Amino acid sequence: MGLLIQNGTVVTAEKTFAADVLIEGQTIREVRPGIAADSHEVLDANGMLLLPGGIDAHTHLDMPFGGTTSSDDFETGTRAAAIGGTTTIVDFAIQAKGTKMRTALDTWWKKAEARACIDYGLHMIVTDLPDAGLEDMDDMVREGVASFKLFMAYPGVLMVDDATIFRALQQTSKNGALICMHAENGSVIDVIVRQALAEGKTAPIHHALTRPTAAEAEAVHRAIALAEIAGVPIYIVHLSSEDALNQVREARDRGLPAFAETCPQYLLLSIEDMKTMPGFEGAKYVFTPPLREKQNLPKLWDGLKTDNLQVVSTDHCPFCFEDQKALGKDDFTKIPNGGPGIENRLQLLHHHGVNAGQITLNRFVEITSTAPARIFGMYPKKGTIAAGSDADIVVWDPKAEHVISAKTHHMRVDYSMFEGFKVTGNARQVYSRGDLIVDSGKFIGRAGRGQYLRRAARGGAWN
Ligand code: URP
Ligand code: ZN
Ligand code: ZN
Repeated sequence: MGLLIQNGTVVTAEKTFAADVLIEGQTIREVRPGIAADSHEVLDANGMLLLPGGIDAHTHLDMPFGGTTSSDDFETGTRAAAIGGTTTIVDFAIQAKGTKMRTALDTWWKKAEARACIDYGLHMIVTDLPDAGLEDMDDMVREGVASFKLFMAYPGVLMVDDATIFRALQQTSKNGALICMHAENGSVIDVIVRQALAEGKTAPIHHALTRPTAAEAEAVHRAIALAEIAGVPIYIVHLSSEDALNQVREARDRGLPAFAETCPQYLLLSIEDMKTMPGFEGAKYVFTPPLREKQNLPKLWDGLKTDNLQVVSTDHCPFCFEDQKALGKDDFTKIPNGGPGIENRLQLLHHHGVNAGQITLNRFVEITSTAPARIFGMYPKKGTIAAGSDADIVVWDPKAEHVISAKTHHMRVDYSMFEGFKVTGNARQVYSRGDLIVDSGKFIGRAGRGQYLRRAARGGAWN
C-alpha cells in the first residue's frame, strides 16, 4: 500500500500537467493521470500544485562566524526550511586552517546527524591548501562532498590567494568537484573599511558603503578567468549586483561553464531600504555581499529570466539582533555577517516571481529545486517529480495568503528580513522521502530523520 496524491497539478522545470502521484516507501512510483486508488492512502490535492521539494544549496547552520555562532542549528534550521517547502539543503563545513578537511567533515556530520529534519549535503570551505590538501579534496569527493567554497573576501579569516584558488580549480579537473566562489576583492575592501573607520564611520550602513559593486565584479571576473585557465566550471555564490552579473553573462556568451546564484534579499531589498532605518536597525541587513542600489534588482530578475543566473538560494546565516548583531554596536566591522531566510525562499519567489509575472511556474521550480539538484550532483534523486525520484513533494497552495513575521516564523532568530511582507502561495503539505513532515503549516516530522546526501561529482555544471 502506498500514498496516492490525487487531482493535483504537477509542476516540473519542463512542464505543468494534471496527474496523480503514487508514492511507495521513500520513492515516487508513478506519475500519470487516473492512477487507481486501490488500497492506497489517498490525499486529495485538488486545486494544489505539486512541486519537487525545494533545494537550498547555500545555508550556514550552527556555524562559528564573526565571534559567535549562527543561531539556527541543524534541527531548528531544517525544521523551518521544511515548513517553507524546502526538503534538501547543502550546508558548509569549514576546514580550520592547518587541519584536514576530514576533521571538519566529521564535525559537521556530528552537528547534523541527530538533528536534521530533512536531507542535507555538505560543501567544504577551503581555508588552506598545502600539497596534501589536494588529496584531501579527492577524499572529500569520495565522501560525497562534491563542491568546495573558496573566499576572495574576509582577509585574515577565510580569504585565500589566487594561487590557492587556481590549485583548487585545477584539482577539480581531476576529481570532478565544483568550486563555489565568494567573489569580492577582500584586500581592496579592507583598505576602504579601514579608511571609513578612521573617519569615524561606524554605523551598519557603512558595511554596505564600503563594499563597491566593482569589487564584486572584479572578483567575479578573476574567478571566471582562473577557472577558464584551469579548464573547469565555476559557480559564483550569492551574486548581488548588475556589475557582477555582467561578468557572468559575458563569460556565458563566450560559452564558458560559469554559473551563479542569487538570493531573495538581493532580488527584493536594497541599500535604500537600509538608509531609512533608525539607529542600529540596519545591522539586521549586514551580510556579504551587502544590499545594493535599487537599480540592480530588475537586472537580477532579468538574469534569472535569461538563465545567466541559474539558482536562488538563501545564504541563510542567522544571528539574533539583540545579543549577536549587537556585538557591532560601536563598529560595523564587528557585526556578524549574515541574515535569515531559509523558511521564506519559496513564498517570496512564488509571490514576487510567479505572481508578479517575472518568472513562470516552471522556472520557479527550476531555480529553487531542479537546477541546484543538477549542478550539485543530486539529480534525478532530488529536484524533480518522476518515477524513481525520492518522494520529496510539496503540496503547494497557490492561493494561500501569509504574512511573513518574526512573531510567527520558525527560524531561531529574533527578526525577519522580510517583516510584514504579504505573500500569496505557501506549502500546505510537505513530504520528505515519503514521510509527511509538514501538514497545514505544522511540522510533524522528527529531528534526526534527515539523511546525509552523498553527491555525485561531475554534476550538471560539467555537462
Ligand atoms: O554574510 C554572509 N553572507 N554570511 C555568510 C558567509 C558567507 O560569506 O556566505
Ligand atoms: Zn560567502
Ligand atoms: Zn554563505
